[in-house]
Amino acid sequence: MSRKPFVAGNWKMHNTLADARALMKDIRGQYDPESGVDVAVCTPFTLLYPMGRELDGMTIMLGAQNVHFESKGAFTGEISPEMLVHAGCKYVIIGHSERRHVFGETDELIAKKVIAAQKVGLSVIFCVGETLDERESGRTDEIVTGQIGRAIIADLDASLLTIAYEPVWAIGTGKTASPEIAQEVHAVIRRKIGEIFDPAVAGAMRIQYGGSVKPGNAADLMACEDVDGALIGGACLAARDFVSIISAVAGSCA
Ligand code: PGA
Repeated sequence: MSRKPFVAGNWKMHNTLADARALMKDIRGQYDPESGVDVAVCTPFTLLYPMGRELDGMTIMLGAQNVHFESKGAFTGEISPEMLVHAGCKYVIIGHSERRHVFGETDELIAKKVIAAQKVGLSVIFCVGETLDERESGRTDEIVTGQIGRAIIADLDASLLTIAYEPVWAIGTGKTASPEIAQEVHAVIRRKIGEIFDPAVAGAMRIQYGGSVKPGNAADLMACEDVDGALIGGACLAARDFVSIISAVAGSCA
């Protein structure tokens, strides 16, 4: 089953407009649009409109890092799925571990967000991952399949879904899952997706790895059978690193 690899940069709470323009200019100068990899940048809300314009005519797509599940109303500080579409987004990250662990998002809330995002045609990058404690107590599979099972339902549009496996202990820590660990968990995730939808859908679904992906470790991770790209935090803030990861992904998944 061939899946087009997908690399997304998660800018998190970084970059002013001037920083963002400079970064995109550098990426544009170094990036090969024919690399055969889908690429997205997920910017802070304030940068979506201008970055949408900046990306116009480029093959790099725009994504957001969060969304509310209601379409409008008295929800101070929130952004609706429709607003993201109008800002030019194709993607939205939902269930990132920082949203789960720092902002207390529950599986129930996350499940509502996934449905609401897809309803307006947004493609969801759905994040799952275990903490170090959970891994050390042998609960990784149970945690990851549980997070999927409580938010991903057969009614969803599987073509608007990417799963990102991001072990919490690897995010921003410089500790990366070994290719063996990544492959093992990605295979578990693919099996779970097969149970929810069917094996053909599971075979076509892209599963990204995220957690301290760098130019030096990307190729080995991407060589794993069930790893179809990367969700990148720290390393996507430097054009050279981001582009070099995209090239590593293109090379390994070719
Ligand atoms: P990192 O972040 O690459 O800095 O570990 C990944 C993420 O949080 O998506």
